[in-house]
Amino acid sequence: MGNDFWSRAFLFLVALACGAGASACAADSVLYTRHNLSVNAPARIQTKRVWTDVPRDTDIRSAGANAEERVCVFCHTPHHASTVTPLWSRETADDRGTLYDLYQSDTVQAGKLQQPFGGSKLCLSCHDGTIAMNTHIGEALPFTNLQDKGGAAVTTVPAGDTNLGTDLRNDHPISFAYADFLGPMSELNDPAQLLQRGVRLEAGFYVQCTSCHDPHKDPYGNFLVLDNSAGSPLCTACHNKTGWTASSHQSGGPGPKALEIAANGCENCHRPHSAPGAAYLLQYKNEEDNCFSKCHNGGSYSSDNVKARFGKPYTHPMGGSLPGTHQTNEDPATAPYHVECVDCHNSHQVNSTSPSAPYNGRLQGVKVAKLPGGNFEYAVKGDEFKVCYKCHAANHSTFKSITEPLPPPRQIDELDESLRFNRDNPSVHPVMVDRAGTGSSLKSIFQSTMVRIFCTDCHDSHGADFSHLLPYRYEQNDYVTYASANYALCFRCHEETYVLSASSRFPRHAQHVINGRVPCSFCHDPHGVSKFSGTIATTTNHAHLINFDASKVDKVTASYDAGMRSCSVSCHTAHVPPIANPQTY
Ligand code: HEC
Ligand code: HEC
Ligand code: HEC
Ligand code: HEC
Ligand code: HEC
Ligand code: HEC
Ligand code: HEC
Ligand code: HEC
Ligand code: HEC
Ligand code: HEC
Repeated sequence: MGNDFWSRAFLFLVALACGAGASACAADSVLYTRHNLSVNAPARIQTKRVWTDVPRDTDIRSAGANAEERVCVFCHTPHHASTVTPLWSRETADDRGTLYDLYQSDTVQAGKLQQPFGGSKLCLSCHDGTIAMNTHIGEALPFTNLQDKGGAAVTTVPAGDTNLGTDLRNDHPISFAYADFLGPMSELNDPAQLLQRGVRLEAGFYVQCTSCHDPHKDPYGNFLVLDNSAGSPLCTACHNKTGWTASSHQSGGPGPKALEIAANGCENCHRPHSAPGAAYLLQYKNEEDNCFSKCHNGGSYSSDNVKARFGKPYTHPMGGSLPGTHQTNEDPATAPYHVECVDCHNSHQVNSTSPSAPYNGRLQGVKVAKLPGGNFEYAVKGDEFKVCYKCHAANHSTFKSITEPLPPPRQIDELDESLRFNRDNPSVHPVMVDRAGTGSSLKSIFQSTMVRIFCTDCHDSHGADFSHLLPYRYEQNDYVTYASANYALCFRCHEETYVLSASSRFPRHAQHVINGRVPCSFCHDPHGVSKFSGTIATTTNHAHLINFDASKVDKVTASYDAGMRSCSVSCHTAHVPPIANPQTY
């Protein structure tokens, strides 16, 4: 494609479409766009701003020359052109030695990105705001007095949305070969499909400004090649995010704003230029603000008030000094102390599939572990605990209760929850395995159905009124009078009258819990007793979730024998009058 080709194409087009008279131009011609900088510049053009929550530059200017009638000349020239095709009339970054800051994130293959070239370099010769628009290679032209509609002189693209600057870290990556990013994890469409989907790679390879924009036509606003205000077909022409079409973020959910959310598509959260959250081009710098600002705050966009729950006394610690610690590609096994919405949710895949199936669509597609070789394991059906184990299993050490009161110390202490819920333990709550018993201690509605339970049956991941993220009361210390509300957490599932009755397998519950006001936690460990930690837990000494609270019971002398149905504990000897050890039931 030498200069000859371009000059023919160019001169042909100029002659055909865009003489000084202009009336012969087709409706989608550059004449009717803001790229017509001539004296005949069109009236102000109403551009579509897809997402209106973030204050955008509403002052839509339109520049025009005071005399120059030709249109193409601001960008092209038949004479004295620079060496750049297509017959470029302007200096570019190459002539000025301008260097751009390039997009970077921990997933983009930044090392492969290079300084803008090709079509992007041409756009940036105006849109980086460094080169006056009234310059022209080779000849002085009448448009030295470019002015805006108010009559003020304009030299460079004025400050605002349209001036991208030389810092492109907050702009969609450009000037790289699309195919370099294809791979099992890239979630990108086959490059061979792109033309058919309406976008073009420069020379068949490169993502450039011109993949998304056509500087000569503006049927959709912003010179876009596709109408991106109808569910982001532009973004999805290239990006094929797993699970997106079934996601609540794609459909807009059940609320009154569903259509608007669905129409905004990717731009509910992303912004292709000047994005405040530069890496990943997010609308807001702090990742959770993308969730809270318009949605998930109890308003009409999403009535679930997650924001309010994060305002409760006990929450997963978000915000503060932690934002930005999360890395999309992090290995949960070694990641530093932090927690963000995206640690537990995949924005592209979340859906409302029933949490009790056992399947929680809200956690679908979360990266739960980094596999050898760099690929990830993703959360699928019934995997809630795997999401929690990212931070509360092997990597728990950095998470040990900085913001919460310490849990009761136990005969066998373990903070790696995967060890406490392990199927080989003498006893566990059935989170990772199906229940072992008949369910006779459960409320009748659960007796046949409750085979597994979730971490979130006992914890609210967002926020709770009681310590340890417990949404229901669970007394772990002394109190004055017994009330079933003191153990509301346990009695959500367990039948209080049964547990406290003589037919319970521990017929002395009432004696302890009601008469003695001994909390469940003095005897029971709510998760399970690890046989992998410290003293060996056996089906004799640690059956039935018995793992005494070591702050109430002398850890060294305490013993439990499930076979003999007996206990020896320091509480018995400290009792007034003393009770002999062991006691049987
Ligand atoms: C605001 C700047 C600008 C104006 C004004 C402009 N062009 Fe272009 N033109 C470009 C850019 C940038 C490219 C390179 C596109 C690419 O790399 O894909 C281009 C490419 C072209 C090409 C090459 C074929 C193509 O579409 O890629 C032709 C022909 C062309 N322009 C004709 C014209 C004509 C005729 C006019 C006036 C009616 C005009 N242009 C006005 C910026 C402009
Ligand atoms: C000769 C300078 C020049 C070149 C070259 C140029 N533009 Fe522009 N462009 C402008 C001006 C001036 C505006 C209006 C700016 C304003 O009013 O804030 C504009 C506006 C835009 C807008 C906003 C349109 C709207 O309706 O809000 C987009 C998008 C755009 N240009 C994209 C491009 C792309 C992509 C290229 C390269 C293919 C390009 N421009 C090349 C000068 C240029
Ligand atoms: C991946 C697609 C994509 C690429 C690549 C891209 N843009 Fe855009 N651009 C968009 C979209 C979409 C909008 C409209 C944003 C909106 O409506 O909020 C836009 C808007 C703009 C605007 C209007 C100002 C604004 O922020 O809304 C300008 C100017 C612009 N682009 C210039 C460029 C230039 C110059 C390049 C290359 C350096 C480029 N674009 C590359 C998709 C892209
Ligand atoms: C012409 C194809 C194309 C279009 C259209 C396109 N993208 Fe991209 N985009 C890519 C490629 C290729 C990459 C780099 C691959 C990667 O790292 O995953 C990328 C990277 C990104 C990244 C950074 C990824 C990272 O890992 O840091 C974001 C965010 C993004 N695109 C969002 C969008 C949005 C939003 C739109 C619509 C406004 C859009 N893209 C339109 C091809 C495209
Ligand atoms: C509800 C908000 C939301 C929507 C809607 C959304 N994203 Fe994202 N996207 C995010 C967040 C948050 C991240 C950063 C994820 C992280 O840090 O783990 C991200 C990351 C990305 C990335 C880079 C990392 C990755 O996950 O591959 C790309 C590319 C991307 N989004 C493209 C898109 C496209 C294309 C669409 C529309 C089809 C879209 N997003 C819709 C919130 C959203
Ligand atoms: C520690 C993990 C975790 C974190 C961090 C987290 N979530 Fe959740 N979220 C969950 C789980 C688990 C569910 C499913 C609860 C259920 O179905 O019972 C959920 C459910 C949701 C739901 C569905 C409605 C509801 O209230 O149950 C929304 C919306 C939501 N989360 C938004 C957010 C937002 C926004 C953030 C960040 C500010 C966030 N989440 C942080 C784990 C988390
Ligand atoms: C990305 C990391 C991360 C994930 C994933 C995560 N958590 Fe947490 N969790 C934390 C951090 C950090 C704390 C605060 C610990 C502290 O007190 O300093 C915490 C605290 C807690 C606490 C209170 C701890 C205490 O000491 O009382 C509970 C309960 C909890 N998380 C449950 C869950 C559940 C259930 C899940 C899965 C739905 C989950 N977490 C997923 C990081 C995480
Ligand atoms: C979400 C429902 C649920 C909640 C809440 C719950 N449990 Fe359970 N619990 C179960 C199920 C299911 C079983 C297994 C029943 C079976 O196998 O028959 C069980 C079994 C038990 C067992 C018997 C273990 C064994 O090996 O014999 C004890 C003890 C127990 N729970 C104590 C508690 C305590 C204390 C609380 C309050 C902190 C509590 N549970 C809260 C569902 C629950
Ligand atoms: C049957 C209810 C129940 C279930 C199910 C449950 N927890 Fe807990 N969890 C509690 C209670 C009660 C505490 C308070 C501390 C205590 O009494 O030991 C607690 C404490 C915690 C703590 C604070 C540190 C510690 O170990 O005491 C973390 C972290 C935690 N749970 C995570 C989880 C995770 C992850 C899951 C699922 C794999 C889960 N929990 C399932 C009831 C439960
Ligand atoms: C003094 C120690 C102690 C206290 C306090 C205690 N338990 Fe127990 N609990 C036991 C023992 C021991 C067993 C095992 C009996 C057996 O199977 O031999 C048991 C068994 C159970 C069972 C299974 C009963 C069955 O018949 O299947 C449930 C459920 C239970 N406890 C719940 C609770 C709840 C809820 C609390 C607090 C309200 C509580 N326990 C307080 C010692 C205690």
